[in-house]
Amino acid sequence: MLPFCPVLVRRAFVLSTFSGGHRRRHLIDPMDLTVEEIDQLLAVGDDIIQNPAKYSEICKGKKLATLFYEPSTRTRLSFESAMLELGGSVIGFSSADSSSAAKGESVADTIRVIGCFADIAAMRHPKEGAPMVAAMNSPIPVINAGDGGHQHPTQTLTDLMTIHRLKGHLDNLTIGLCGDLKFGRTVHSLILALSRYTGIRFVLISPKELAVPDYIKEEVLDKKKIPYTEVQSLDEAMPELDILYMTRIQRERFASEEEYLRLKDSYILTPKQLELAKPDMYILHPLPRVNEISVAVDNDPRAAYFTQVFCGKIIRMALILKLLDRIPAPFDQQLPAPERHQPQVVHNHLHCGNPRCITTIEQELPQAFRPVEEKPGAFRCIYCEALVD
Ligand code: CP
Repeated sequence: MLPFCPVLVRRAFVLSTFSGGHRRRHLIDPMDLTVEEIDQLLAVGDDIIQNPAKYSEICKGKKLATLFYEPSTRTRLSFESAMLELGGSVIGFSSADSSSAAKGESVADTIRVIGCFADIAAMRHPKEGAPMVAAMNSPIPVINAGDGGHQHPTQTLTDLMTIHRLKGHLDNLTIGLCGDLKFGRTVHSLILALSRYTGIRFVLISPKELAVPDYIKEEVLDKKKIPYTEVQSLDEAMPELDILYMTRIQRERFASEEEYLRLKDSYILTPKQLELAKPDMYILHPLPRVNEISVAVDNDPRAAYFTQVFCGKIIRMALILKLLDRIPAPFDQQLPAPERHQPQVVHNHLHCGNPRCITTIEQELPQAFRPVEEKPGAFRCIYCEALVD
């Protein structure tokens, strides 16, 4: 029997921490919000679009810190625009090199420092689990703005808002996910989030080498009996799709440049291929695009990836309001947070073997694992979810 470590009850700890009796929420993965809370954010988002003046000073005196250890255009600037449009202000850094991370400062120390300057923080980090470590040590709400190839929950909120505005609902949809489904963190987060809606079917379109990780198939799709197929041909999948979610092959996550070059042109969406699609099938892409969607597709009325960028700013405004407890009436219901109290364990003899895990650079972090219900004897790192057996 492995020792139980109450300090590392991952979800109970990370989802919310307490400060002077006040509950502080973080957003580390999409399951940190209930479906009802997502509905609340979508309703606030729609209201922001309808009544922007109502929101223009609602965060006056509040400060957002954007802590970006990895490049970004959309996520960082949409967070910053979101806070500015709410009347707040913004501080931060846009690369690890321009912060004291370059001198070896830990994520835990950084967030304690930032907590003295700001009211809320959005963190992007190349190491998986870094925003979770920040949340565990933070005096202010922390938002995961993308951690390695792991999760990107605010991109998921963006995707849900885009689909909701285009289709009018988030259930009974066949969703095609195409490209790099192994390293594409936006795909992982979107599957987790959509797995809670009824009538969802996934078509996973990728080369075999870039398939969705087993932990998502086994512990989300299989466990919840969500129908999915895995195919390599986009043309074959196209006619049945309601949404086509294209993704970039994530060059920066490959261990071998040769392997990247072999796979980089696996999918290039063209107008000709779209002749196979439904007239109301929308094309989403988290962006940046490299070449996986031909620019000739941009004028197709079904191309929704720039609408998606707009939704990204709006839904981040709604999220900031929620985490700062500033959602205005009539949307300000106090909804219960998700119940995610899973027992966790620490095993001192195990080591996470994922080279992208935060434990590879933060040597003093305790190695911590949770047992895998579906695989007796196997464990997952609580930070990056890599399998250890
Ligand atoms: N979609 C997304 O995360 O884009 P950036 O990398 O530009 O932030």
